[in-house]
Amino acid sequence: MDLSYLIDWANLLLRWAHVITAVAWIGASFYFVMLDNSLSVPTHEDLKKKGVDGEMWAVHGGGFYHSNKYMVAPKWLPLPENLHWSYWESYSTWLTGFGLFTVLYLFNAGTFLVDKSVHDWSPGAAIGAALGFLAAFWLLYDAICRTLGRRRNGDLVVGVLVFALVVFAAWLACQLFAGRAAFLLVGAMMATAMSANVFFWIIPGQRKVVAQLRAGQAVDPVHGQRGKQRSVHNTYFTLPVLIAMLSNHYGWLYQAQHNWLVLVLLMLAGALIRHSFVSRHKAHVLGKRTPWEHAVVGTLALGGLAFWLAPPPRSDAQLAAARQPVAFAQVQSVIEQRCVMCHNAQLQNKNVALHTPELIRVNAQAVYQQAVVQKLMPLNNATQITDAERDLLRRWFESGASAQQ
Ligand code: HEC
Repeated sequence: MDLSYLIDWANLLLRWAHVITAVAWIGASFYFVMLDNSLSVPTHEDLKKKGVDGEMWAVHGGGFYHSNKYMVAPKWLPLPENLHWSYWESYSTWLTGFGLFTVLYLFNAGTFLVDKSVHDWSPGAAIGAALGFLAAFWLLYDAICRTLGRRRNGDLVVGVLVFALVVFAAWLACQLFAGRAAFLLVGAMMATAMSANVFFWIIPGQRKVVAQLRAGQAVDPVHGQRGKQRSVHNTYFTLPVLIAMLSNHYGWLYQAQHNWLVLVLLMLAGALIRHSFVSRHKAHVLGKRTPWEHAVVGTLALGGLAFWLAPPPRSDAQLAAARQPVAFAQVQSVIEQRCVMCHNAQLQNKNVALHTPELIRVNAQAVYQQAVVQKLMPLNNATQITDAERDLLRRWFESGASAQQ
């Protein structure tokens, strides 16, 4: 079996697993943020005696659930052996994500990571830089949290510095890598920090607390405080990471002239919208109104982005050209110059070959979709297709996509 075919399968299965584990992780994370913010002070004497700090009643799937939160641990019973931990959701999301990144971007670095019109370097150098990106972001982010997090106004200072770091990383990635890879890499770098927060701080901190409780020692509150700080960061990273991962499937975003700014605005909109949702639960419990204004500003930023990136109206000359009939020979010549290099008998990316009229006819729908509508192909516009040529492909497809010479 052909290696590239097997890699396509690895790509599919890793992507599937990645989405499943990410749903489990983010789902659990959203649930616990909601739970934490929805807790109310218990009123029942029994609960007060047991030392419960907050409770929430919920109805779901035919049953009633009553969650009790102990800030440290229950006073009325030893911590049970059967304690449910949440960390494999996070680790498996990172492992499948890194696997997918390897299969897709690192194996084909020359095609996917490098865009010579952005930065002309070797695939090996690009791979090294991409891995360096993931490590460097974590080290810098972690250093910011450790050195400044516990000072006065620590949360604010850390928040501002981490935001500035993300903006700088987005800018730098877009100066070095193909747009699609740059967007993905920024998402992957933040997602790596999220998993590393779980792996290096949140879980080890919780393990220490559990060990202290079981040994009957006093609990050091620093572990809880640190865990909470990292957990809050993870909450605010969630929507930005998801949009960075998804936006790299939309050519008009990552091929925009100031693509780094497009990415920053998308991520900022995500963080603002998340803020309104996080605050909503707390506001609910306290009987206050939800601060929707953050979500409104985030949504307006998305609307502004849509206006900014809107393609210019077509000129009269273009409209006149659009009415001219297209000869198949013209279409074939464009495809030979712009596509066949990567879609031929030997090399069939995603099983698409375009080196004969019959193949062009069979793949007409996919050609139209990829090269005209989504402008994803040619990949990174490696073969410098022009707008007039895309328009030619469009007219040919819309007038019936015939392969008659
Ligand atoms: C530099 C190499 C390169 C060039 C040039 C190129 N492609 Fe591709 N094409 C690829 C790769 C790599 C993939 C697989 C992309 C992926 O997995 O996301 C692909 C995928 C495709 C697909 C399948 C997309 C899907 O997700 O099902 C179509 C259709 C396609 N290309 C059409 C074209 C057309 C039309 C052109 C010319 C206008 C073109 N390609 C030029 C590399 C190229």
